[in-house]
Amino acid sequence: MKYSKYSTVVIGSGIAGLYAALKIEQQANLPDGLLLITKSKLGESNSRYAQGGMVGVLKENLKDSTESHISDTLKAGAGLSELNTVKFISENSDKVIKDLLNFGVEFDRNEKGELTFTLEAAHSVNRVLHAGGDATGRMIEQALCRKVSSNKNIEIYEQTVAVELLINSEKDCRGVVVFNDITKEYETIYAPAIILATGGIGQLYKYTTNPSGATGDGIALAYNAGAVMQDLEFVQFHPTALAFDDEENRFLISEAVRGEGAKLVDADGIEFMQNYDSRKELAPRDIVTRANYNEMKKNNTNNVFLNATCIPKDKIEKRFPNISKKCKEHGIDMAQDFIPVAPAAHYYMGGVKTDIEGRTSINGLFAIGEVSSTGLHGGNRLASNSLLECVVCAYEVANYLKTAYLNAPKQIDETIKAEIDTYTVTEDFRPIDVTALKNELKDIMWNHTGILRDEKTLKEGLDKLERLSSKFPRTGKCQTKAEYEFKNMLTVAKLITMSALNRKESRGAHYRLDYLQTNEESEHSYTTKYEGEICFAK
Ligand code: FAD
Ligand code: SIN
Repeated sequence: MKYSKYSTVVIGSGIAGLYAALKIEQQANLPDGLLLITKSKLGESNSRYAQGGMVGVLKENLKDSTESHISDTLKAGAGLSELNTVKFISENSDKVIKDLLNFGVEFDRNEKGELTFTLEAAHSVNRVLHAGGDATGRMIEQALCRKVSSNKNIEIYEQTVAVELLINSEKDCRGVVVFNDITKEYETIYAPAIILATGGIGQLYKYTTNPSGATGDGIALAYNAGAVMQDLEFVQFHPTALAFDDEENRFLISEAVRGEGAKLVDADGIEFMQNYDSRKELAPRDIVTRANYNEMKKNNTNNVFLNATCIPKDKIEKRFPNISKKCKEHGIDMAQDFIPVAPAAHYYMGGVKTDIEGRTSINGLFAIGEVSSTGLHGGNRLASNSLLECVVCAYEVANYLKTAYLNAPKQIDETIKAEIDTYTVTEDFRPIDVTALKNELKDIMWNHTGILRDEKTLKEGLDKLERLSSKFPRTGKCQTKAEYEFKNMLTVAKLITMSALNRKESRGAHYRLDYLQTNEESEHSYTTKYEGEICFAK
């Protein structure tokens, strides 16, 4: 076992992690240095695939205001968004976007060189900035990766999985154990500040827009460390993923296509959204998702269709070059043909409970980006608010650490030593077909803890997850990255399912067929690990 120490460790190299590393390096005093860890290649993340854009309530957009953005976010959030958080993030969007421009992010502009804004569902005005047409995430991520890679004060570990947070007897986080998936070696890293920026959980579901790394690792790490978790039952399903299976996920057909006028239709070309909501295609995401799902069930089909033929061909090519290219690969010409689409797991509103500076309930442990639950999104995220939250919270965690004492811990207590020892034991591993186990878990989650839930299906799902656990013999140390991921997926799948059982109402993306009404009295749900068991707290 190798040992090292740093002033701060950032885990995850999506937009939240990359930007946090850059801002911390700019501002904080780092006597023991800064380390950025990622389990894949630098920048490989959900962030890279973000299409539609990033909310920017910019001073120069005279049609917009923070009041309007706050109101839209609160409405979409189904009564669970925190007003102070929403306000803070909205009011800071102008500042962080200007900062991103300084870091070399090139948002799309019109012929006059002005930034252009598009419309997405449940936004009252055009306020979504985009880059590379429909490649917003990739453009931001590449600009930040360039800065991180050329910054000699940021050390980078790639292909390195964070496998356990080190918590001392005082319940403070003092470091992390990591596993190099290439060399198969472990390393203990001590640091006074550990920042989880590990992204979402989409891979827990059979159909998802998320790439293979979205296995909920940070959720499992924080939960196992004893952190307070929030609203774990809230999974967002996007209404329009292309209904063809790629290797690891389904390709997203951005909401911005509906923002430009595309309509949802059935196999006969008949529009149906007017039967579900007066805002039709631009209703909040949970409503459009359930409408599509309902139409599919009613007509016994695997998809509905998106009719984008009303958008001029040249506009399609300019605004949606990647979506149009992907459709062509499947023989679909967006300007002439209907696009087969279906809902897919997309985003996790639940997560590690944090404040705006990323502080969790554990001293020394921070969480930012999709792994966190700041209270911005509530029960249903407004489109393009995620990238904004990633950037504002990364900015704020750096701001917080500016004044923190960041010397690596000098003494390690017995609780941590005992934990580290478990990784030095040699074990006789028998091989496991993790891919098969992962697929089984994804089926269970899609069928039992999916878009529509009720007590019976959730309980059956839990039973199946318990049976699946018994096929996986690892409890601590694993042999590969994929095994660690599966271990985390199991933990998070149970957490989501139990939390979904516990919330006896329908609200936002959590839709219970046996409790259709919203209970006006209900609030956030909080979950912690207590004496090894899941504990729901008020
Ligand atoms: P991620 O970008 O997911 O990065 C997580 C990082 O953590 C990765 O580098 C991963 O390798 C690393 N990691 C995970 N576990 C470990 C571990 N155990 N050890 C080490 N490293 C680890 N949002 C918007 O606002 N606008 C959009 O237009 C938009 N479009 C989207 C389109 C798609 C197809 C998808 C999937 C999402 C979209 N979203 C969008 C959501 C948004 O992209 C994500 O919520 C956001 O990018 C999350 O960023 P993040 O930095 O928190 O996590
Ligand atoms: C999309 O482009 O539809 C995704 C936007 C988002 O998830 O915020």
